[in-house]
Amino acid sequence: MLKNLTLTFCILLGLQGLNAQTYASHGMVVSDDAHASQVGVDILKQGGNAIDAAVATAFALAVTLPQAGNIGGGGFLIYMPHHGEVTTVDFREKAPLSASESMFLDAEGVLVPGSNHKGLKTVGVPGTVAGLYLAHHKYGKLPWATLLQPAIDLAEQGVPLSFTLASHAKSIAESDSPEFLKQLFTDQHGRVLGFGDIWKQTELANTLAIIRDQGEDGFYKGKVAQALADYMEANGGLITTKDLENYKAIERKPVKGTYKSYDIYSMPPPSSGGVALVEMMNMMELVDFSNAEFNTTAYFHLLTEVMRRAFADRAEFLGDPDFNYDMPLDRLASKAFAKERMTFLDWNHAGVSDPVKFGQIYDGDNTTHLSVVDKEGSAVSLTYTIEQSYGTGMGCQELGFLLNNEMGDFNPQSGFTDRGWLIGTTPNKIEPGKRMLSSMTPTIVAKEGKPYLVIGSPGGRTIINTVFQTVLAVLEYDMPLQEAIEAVKIHHQWFPDELIYEQGKLSPDLVKALGSMGHQPVSRDQLGRLMGILVNEVLIGASDSSSPDGAALGY
Ligand code: GLY
Repeated sequence: MLKNLTLTFCILLGLQGLNAQTYASHGMVVSDDAHASQVGVDILKQGGNAIDAAVATAFALAVTLPQAGNIGGGGFLIYMPHHGEVTTVDFREKAPLSASESMFLDAEGVLVPGSNHKGLKTVGVPGTVAGLYLAHHKYGKLPWATLLQPAIDLAEQGVPLSFTLASHAKSIAESDSPEFLKQLFTDQHGRVLGFGDIWKQTELANTLAIIRDQGEDGFYKGKVAQALADYMEANGGLITTKDLENYKAIERKPVKGTYKSYDIYSMPPPSSGGVALVEMMNMMELVDFSNAEFNTTAYFHLLTEVMRRAFADRAEFLGDPDFNYDMPLDRLASKAFAKERMTFLDWNHAGVSDPVKFGQIYDGDNTTHLSVVDKEGSAVSLTYTIEQSYGTGMGCQELGFLLNNEMGDFNPQSGFTDRGWLIGTTPNKIEPGKRMLSSMTPTIVAKEGKPYLVIGSPGGRTIINTVFQTVLAVLEYDMPLQEAIEAVKIHHQWFPDELIYEQGKLSPDLVKALGSMGHQPVSRDQLGRLMGILVNEVLIGASDSSSPDGAALGY
């Protein structure tokens, strides 16, 4: 029902390519929102390259997809130019300078439940504007202002409220959400906007115009920075003008792995995504696939065991590289380590998640991904987030953008690991100025030195596993992109020791068989919302059908 209404709405708007594999010859943009994909394609048509289109699409998503698109959060992008080295930009949020290891604990040193996801103390110093600015400054082609203008127009002139956002608006109005979030979807008379109403964001348009005119300084210095710091001070938040002024996005070398004849480039720490993906693909390379046909009990058992191992390693070793100088990244991504990790795989029984070893805490799954390929064959894979849906739900009224609650991605209680969600390992403990560990996995797979598959997803820790399964389905099972994106996904993350599967997509017999092997199957609505491009003779774009407003648009 929701899907049909959204589809009708987009056809009425003349937007095509929704949730279906799309073909194009020159350029392609796939994102969670059709307006934003259109902005990206227009930039490509104006002669912009993949970086330009990704930057413009990301700013547009900050307007049209407020639950995840942002300038108040952070993320990662990976860029494979048609000539030259693959690179990444880390624009993950950082802990404010006054953050501390005990900031979410009570007097007994125990985590106050929910405190690390609620309120202004959970806001990490935003990185999005710095990251997009750095990417454009080094690799973009069109003027910065050209990339900001479409987002400003969308905010200023407004867009018809989608069915999805209209339903969010209604439930937000009926909830005890923060005032900022409630006002986001109301008009000047305080009326809650409904489906198809024109939704304008004047304050956000003003903030974006300052960034258009002053570059990253427009966000990290001057009027915007001062207003944000004043708002923080007045409402118990931690971020100061010094935090904002100190924030820098960082260019980092990608994690590189191989799978048979393909090269895999993905995000290094402070995301755990790339290392875990490469580790899992290395383990899969050791498998005789005649024993693991797609969608069989053996296949899901194998995936689960591979995930169990990679997530244990993720928790034990990974954190912000600027605070953890001895992370064994080369070892984790090596073929030899994969062999070691597969030694004890039992084909008939579930493995054991050992609580004396490691896992990871809960993290939010309202993130968004976009993929771009331009006419020269350069590619960008970008994932960014404000952590949970609408982040904190809070923001400074005069600035008009939502703030993240990314501090929840740190391990909140050092030294305390249980069989549930709580992990207390050191690499990801809270420290001032540190980036919290992420699971975002923007990825580019290359074939003969050129982009072949550009892919990523939201979904908290499930991101790593949904990207992994999609890459595997395309590379190993030769599946068409849309089919690989739609194919059933499972998730295991060491702790809790559960095999999560998409409801209704595994037969009861299969679930029973996995249970009898010692797994603990638990169903969930859906895993991932993948946005991908496959480069063949033509460009093939695919937006996950679970994204109600997503679109693969090309020209
Ligand atoms: N906030 C989700 C992630 O960074 O993985």
